[in-house]
Amino acid sequence: MAKFKKNILCIGAGYVGGPTMAVIAAKCPDYKVTVVDINKDRIKAWKTDNLPIYEPGLLEIVKKARGKNLFFSTDVEKEIKENEIIFVSVNTPTKTFGEGAGKAADLQYWEKTARNILKNSESDKIIIEKSTLPVRTAEAMERILNSGEKKIHFEVLSSPEFLAEGTAIKDLLNPDRVLVGSRETPGGIKARNEIVEIYANWIPKEKILTTNVWSSELSKLVANAFLAQRISSINAISALCEKTEADVDEISRAIGHDSRIGAKFLRPSIGFGGSCFKKDILNLSYIAESYGLHEVAEYWQNVIKLNDYQAARFVKNMLKSMFNTVAGKKIALFGFAFKANTGDTRETPALAVTKMLLEERAEIIITDPKALHEAKRDLADIKKGVTLEEDVYKAAKGSHAIAIMTEWDSYKTLDYEKIYKSMEKPAFIFDGRNILNHKKLYDIGFNVYPIGKTPLSHL
Ligand code: NAD
Ligand code: UDX
Repeated sequence: MAKFKKNILCIGAGYVGGPTMAVIAAKCPDYKVTVVDINKDRIKAWKTDNLPIYEPGLLEIVKKARGKNLFFSTDVEKEIKENEIIFVSVNTPTKTFGEGAGKAADLQYWEKTARNILKNSESDKIIIEKSTLPVRTAEAMERILNSGEKKIHFEVLSSPEFLAEGTAIKDLLNPDRVLVGSRETPGGIKARNEIVEIYANWIPKEKILTTNVWSSELSKLVANAFLAQRISSINAISALCEKTEADVDEISRAIGHDSRIGAKFLRPSIGFGGSCFKKDILNLSYIAESYGLHEVAEYWQNVIKLNDYQAARFVKNMLKSMFNTVAGKKIALFGFAFKANTGDTRETPALAVTKMLLEERAEIIITDPKALHEAKRDLADIKKGVTLEEDVYKAAKGSHAIAIMTEWDSYKTLDYEKIYKSMEKPAFIFDGRNILNHKKLYDIGFNVYPIGKTPLSHL
């Protein structure tokens, strides 16, 4: 057996654990990296070329390291025993029951992991929080770990993950920064240096930021809250643009050129989705509330309120422009993933739009290049009114309207003349991502409704 400098374990083989560990393994060939999960199907898929998640560049990087220094296993207990550095990237969704339901983070998976680590450890360990957690969770983790009778020392660190889905590999290979939060004790600093040493294999030292544990935990929630806030801000302005003949894309460009504001995350949309933004803002707001900071809690709540408003506004606009009724009309939704280049549909605004259109008794056809499997699961409870269609042209055929839900590149270069001919007239396009050439579509004959711009209508 090959001799490795260190053994690293990651508990949780999801969107974060899998890609993160694949990159660590590829960049640190002298470390043995093992990823474990209680989900047997997921682990089975990580061992094949049909990975459990779609992420550009992931398969190549997994193949580079798998079987050499990257391993996947369901034997969580054995691996805890054998590894001295343990990253934890289990899911931390919004709580759906009891105290804090709908707001607080559900820490049951997290706590089970902590107890499992305690039960199966026979030597000192460094535990790194990779999951996104409420500030001061490390304290609870330390209490659980140090409640045992064994004389083992656990050093708990925070190193949250900032990757975005669809660009995970790029983000991991070249991050803006990584954070390593630790206690300022000799044990904490020693553990911190060990983690910094791993990242330093490919990340420049000045991008590895060390902080105290609480700043690290809270920075992750704050980063997501700030990013989501930018989207809600530009979406709020998109509503005003539609009333005033200002153009939201021109505004994004104008304000994005201000170096104090910056150009990123100013794309108007039907709203942000994904497993992180809503959950983390709810969590941030709940934490503020629990410290009695009501105004702070409300301030962040409004970012979510605006996001819900944007999707509802989009559907209202569809209804109004289609003569106040969509009952019995076929509407093709182009895209179901919460963003392009992922098959993930968690918190996708497309689901909210689908449900609102179904309330209006529209017939929905959903197409997506990567997310139809997930869409089928999300829509399992809906018995009538929704069809899934792989072929985008077939999805559009006979429809009264197309609504762009996801900014897939492939939607920009479709044969819209052919699509137009196959649709009911008048034909409508609602571009929920502002990715299409609106003037060209208008010239073909479509009635075009972008976000935050004056519609181009023949009616
Ligand atoms: P995920 O649901 O895709 O993966 C979590 C995995 O943990 C699942 O496969 C689950 O089976 C496993 N798990 C749960 N309990 C376990 C246990 N006791 N033992 C072993 N395995 C267990 O979630 P994800 O998207 O990878 O997110 C993980 C964490 O990272 C969350 O806290 C999330 O907020 C954070 N995060 C996510 C992203 C993202 O883009 N998805 C980005 C940054 C941070
Ligand atoms: C986000 C954070 O970006 C990442 O740092 C964190 O680790 C996890 O949460 P993710 O949710 O994967 O990543 O994707 P992201 O690119 O942030 O997009 C989130 C949502 O916002 C998507 O629905 C996207 O379409 C939308 N979005 C993004 C906009 O509507 N406008 C923008 O300008 C940018």
